[in-house]
Amino acid sequence: MKAETPHFLEGKRTYLRGITAEDVPRIAAWSDDRVVTRFLFRGAYPADVETMERARQQTVANPHEVELAVMDREDDAFIGVTGLHGINPVARTGEFRILLGEKDYWGGGRGTEVCLLMCVYGFEVLNLNKVWLGVTSDNLAALRSYEKSGFVKEGALRQEVYRNSTYYDAIRMSLLRTEYDAALPGWPVAEEAAAMFPRPKQG
Ligand SMILES: CC(C)(COP(=O)(O)OP(=O)(O)OC[C@H]1O[C@@H](n2cnc3c(N)ncnc32)[C@H](O)[C@@H]1OP(=O)(O)O)[C@@H](O)C(=O)NCCC(=O)NCCS
Repeated sequence: MKAETPHFLEGKRTYLRGITAEDVPRIAAWSDDRVVTRFLFRGAYPADVETMERARQQTVANPHEVELAVMDREDDAFIGVTGLHGINPVARTGEFRILLGEKDYWGGGRGTEVCLLMCVYGFEVLNLNKVWLGVTSDNLAALRSYEKSGFVKEGALRQEVYRNSTYYDAIRMSLLRTEYDAALPGWPVAEEAAAMFPRPKQG
């Protein structure tokens, strides 16, 4: 039997692959959806497909930026985007971002799985020492998801985000390499991580 071609990153509920030009109109539609972008910087200005396609091409050519499409494994639907941004090769840091644009897929554990997969990628492949993120203080689903992923609160940036006629604090959180190494065996994607990036046996 012919072996299946693997995706870029494999999870249980989701898999992640590169973003193509065909994906861009859907991402633009999500960016214009007030419910999806309620807690984000994104969405303050209308999305433009051509501008977003140019940005996608620049991102693909930039080793400091990684953006991936989030796919639902069950029905192969394109449900969102995620990425590691501003990758700093000296401090070995990167900023995690996620946007699940298909609202029907919220609340089923997919966002948390994607967060874990991007940490696996950041630490195992890019050799980062710290993955960090910023989240609006009222974005309770995102906060819960990051806490479940083991992210630790570093502090609050006061009145950092303005949406819905309101200023919100942004909570900054991070996961260090040492914390990742300790937590990985207990993660729901531990098996997938070991299959994708097997480590040499000790001793
Ligand atoms: C935030 C986001 C990534 C979460 O993804 P998701 O697949 O819906 O999240 P998960 O199901 O993995 O986890 C969400 C958790 O928050 C909980 N939750 C959801 N709404 C909540 C609320 N209003 N208050 C408290 N907890 C809430 C869920 O119950 C779940 O926790 P549990 O598994 O312990 O029950 C996704 O909703 C999204 O992309 N939203 C739009 C863009 C966005 O806000 N991105 C994040 C920017 S920082």
